[in-house]
Amino acid sequence: MQKTIDGLEVYTAGNTNSRPIIFIHGFPFDHSIWNEAVAQLQNDYYCISYDIRGFGRSKTAHGQYTMESYVDDLETIITQLQLQQVILCGFSMGGYIALRASERLQTCKAFILANTTTSADDNTAKLKRAKAIKSIEKEGVAPFLDTFFSAAFTKHYLQEDEQTVAKLKTKILSFDRVGIKGGLLAMISRTDTAQSLQALPQSLLISAGEDKIIPPQEMKDMAAKIPNSQYVVIPNSGHVSMLEKPQEFIEAIQSFLHKL
Ligand code: MLT
Repeated sequence: MQKTIDGLEVYTAGNTNSRPIIFIHGFPFDHSIWNEAVAQLQNDYYCISYDIRGFGRSKTAHGQYTMESYVDDLETIITQLQLQQVILCGFSMGGYIALRASERLQTCKAFILANTTTSADDNTAKLKRAKAIKSIEKEGVAPFLDTFFSAAFTKHYLQEDEQTVAKLKTKILSFDRVGIKGGLLAMISRTDTAQSLQALPQSLLISAGEDKIIPPQEMKDMAAKIPNSQYVVIPNSGHVSMLEKPQEFIEAIQSFLHKL
């Protein structure tokens, strides 16, 4: 079912009485990266995915986003849908949102953190993003996206799933570039969330074996700091493991959820 909540496109599947899982996509994707996970989990969980403001079909509004404004949006969805005991599943930038939400929102009780990090951007990363904003402004999103895709996906996936990749690119190129630049701004200005790791309740950390954006070691170190956590590596996958290896990704989630 599709709903619009405060300009955000929100998709729900499953029984409203089941335990809710909110899926938060990464940059610069939309809710559809979770379609396979939602299809397989909706019989047992109330699955909610949404397009982060400025991405997919959600309204861009002013485009001046921060991680705080993204968490405000998440809170609005939780409140409007009257969700309790929420499981948050965040991928990369979605993980940054989930981690900040863990510090702010009491309703979030379990976390699936995929290919993400608690670290804020260092100077090199900030300058790289500033350069990307400038290039998107001047040349559009396409050149930036080519570079991003070659870092985000394995060579194997880019070659073997050429048509899926082409469709995904076309879709992202239809998004409002103001929203994409806003996402970069939000990531530049995010805080470091490492301090709250000790308090993070039941957590699954999923890392991709060949992730060039968030190296597996970084996530392994993060998992070691969370007392109640499980750490899983998805082999032969790049950064976007729910697209490259959906079955392995979903099985990791299912085995974690069974233990909750
Ligand atoms: C993402 O996939 O959300 C981004 O690559 C994260 C980042 O650039 O830090």
